[in-house]
Amino acid sequence: MARNATNKILHKAKKSKSDEFYTQLSDIESELQHYRNHFKNKVVYCNCDDPQISNFYNYFAINFKELGLKKLISSCYVKQERDLFNTKEFESGFYYEYTGIVKEKIIPSSTDIHRFKGDGDFRSAESIELLKQTDIVVTNPPFSLFREHVAQLVKYDKKFLIIGNINAITYKEIFQLIKENRAWLGINLGRGISGFIVPEHYELYGTEARIDNSGNRIVSPNNALWLTNLDTFKRHEDIVLTKRYFGNEIEYPKYDNYDGININKTKDIPLDYGGVMGVPITFLHKFNPEQFEIIKFRKGNDEKDLSINGKCPYFRILIKNKRLQIDTNNLMEKEKSQQVIKAIRNAGKMLNTNIVKTNKISSKLKV
Ligand SMILES: C[S@@+](CC[C@H](N)C(=O)[O-])C[C@H]1O[C@@H](n2cnc3c(N)ncnc32)[C@H](O)[C@@H]1O
Repeated sequence: MARNATNKILHKAKKSKSDEFYTQLSDIESELQHYRNHFKNKVVYCNCDDPQISNFYNYFAINFKELGLKKLISSCYVKQERDLFNTKEFESGFYYEYTGIVKEKIIPSSTDIHRFKGDGDFRSAESIELLKQTDIVVTNPPFSLFREHVAQLVKYDKKFLIIGNINAITYKEIFQLIKENRAWLGINLGRGISGFIVPEHYELYGTEARIDNSGNRIVSPNNALWLTNLDTFKRHEDIVLTKRYFGNEIEYPKYDNYDGININKTKDIPLDYGGVMGVPITFLHKFNPEQFEIIKFRKGNDEKDLSINGKCPYFRILIKNKRLQIDTNNLMEKEKSQQVIKAIRNAGKMLNTNIVKTNKISSKLKV
């Protein structure tokens, strides 16, 4: 088989594997503690969640009263093709509604659930009907349908807090939402999300793979993020800047195809540069829209990847410091004068060296 075709199959297998990553309660608690004020009197929908096993459903059911929820809905997709791993009890998809009244069961049995006519796909008309009654969607959707999941939430103008892969930032549609401040990163990212529960048939890989005290098989890909449009304290905190561009220009090379400087680490963003700066995608985890403006992603003026002396650094986000009031022209003037000062200094050094040389020669001549 051609290498390309093999790669495609492997990629597909990898993608569909992470479709079956189940979220741990501890990771949900660790993120959700920052959003408690958003849930009062709200309908929450976990639309990729079997209420009998999902920790998202579990979290909201347990904390129903404390959060002041109005209703909790959890729906389960049931793949229609049968295979070795798909041995679910129900033929069609199903959902469960929990309203927190005394008689209600937290964990539903097969007689408590409502069956969908179809498979319970979040894109189905039946699931969309539930979505329409919803205020906030909170889930970890299948990785391979992440774009579609987000597009649907945006289309129906819903609040959301969902888990995705860090690479999702590089998807055109997701980046656009972030650029327009219609979505942003949550609090935990990468190693901040400790791992996912995987099914029995899934091979445990990586040094951090483990079986927890309850017998759950856990893998830690350390590559997930939370994407949300619920406000968090984090996006109002400034990144503390300590570095300076002027005097250290050599550390901040300019792009070949864009009028901007390259920065390899968010912590190296200089406090005195008013022009455009290219920063790594992890910058978004610290992004405060009151401090910075996002200009563009990845491409230079020629719409090719940003490059420095012909080499392309890994994806960069072009940003501008909004707090810096000095205009770019002034900075350019400042930069020019710095260069003149440097040239004068160098000339001075050369002059000194020449004087020393002349002195040496004349003293030799005297001898
Ligand atoms: C990454 S897992 C996460 C499960 C659960 N939300 C959690 O966090 O533990 C994604 C889930 O979405 C389900 N799923 C796959 N395709 C779906 C679809 N089209 N509509 C709804 N759910 C789907 C999968 O069966 C799987 O249970």
